Amino acid sequence: MKRGKFITLEGGEGAGKTTQAKLLVDALDAAGIETVLTREPGGTFGAEAIRKLVLDGTKDRWSGMTELLLMYAARVDHVEKLIRPALDRGAWVISDRFADSSLAYQGYARGIDLSRIKGVHNAVMDGFEPDLTILFDIDPVIAMKRVETRGEEISRFDAESMEFHNTLRDAFLDIAKQNTDRIFTLDAGEKRAGVHTRMIYAVTQKFPELAGRLSQQT
Ligand code: TYD
Repeated sequence: MKRGKFITLEGGEGAGKTTQAKLLVDALDAAGIETVLTREPGGTFGAEAIRKLVLDGTKDRWSGMTELLLMYAARVDHVEKLIRPALDRGAWVISDRFADSSLAYQGYARGIDLSRIKGVHNAVMDGFEPDLTILFDIDPVIAMKRVETRGEEISRFDAESMEFHNTLRDAFLDIAKQNTDRIFTLDAGEKRAGVHTRMIYAVTQKFPELAGRLSQQT
């Protein structure tokens, strides 16, 4: 059985990743590819329990380092129990966030040394990386308006200041610049259909075997 592909979607809050992840899954399904849609932190029973611990409560409930280790504890469970087995059986896995979020949030935004985060990553991930990462880049002012109009519960992270969101945006762009072979950046400030088209383009560029097989689903 041919190993499946692992695609991660990254970006700040309100970039529309979650909607686009579902559209990507629909497009791959329609092309006859088995897909698994998942998210971080979370994705497995244990990792979802850790998600609750880390996202609920006040802003200063955890130190940056504790937060990082909780993210990685959840990630290891997620990779071991869900992602790797799915890829091994030939399914494609789409994850709403993955390790780049730890670098951006706990590193660039919360100030943990990037080299320490990479040290934790290398110690526990055993060389495991996404085949493709799509970065949804958006002006935080537009993104926060989207979050507000969705009327969603404001999580501990959404409540951060605009400065935090700007730092995050720059962080993801910097990470993308350092990983041009893996990360494709798209303008998530566009309308949903336009973003979808760009995302499908990125996927077919990376995996030419899909060219002509992915229909647009908007
Ligand atoms: P979620 O409500 O899923 O946010 P979004 O819709 O923006 O993805 O909450 C996930 C939050 O967890 C988000 O604010 C980013 C944060 N996070 C980290 O800080 N580090 C990480 O490693 C991951 C995966 C997420």
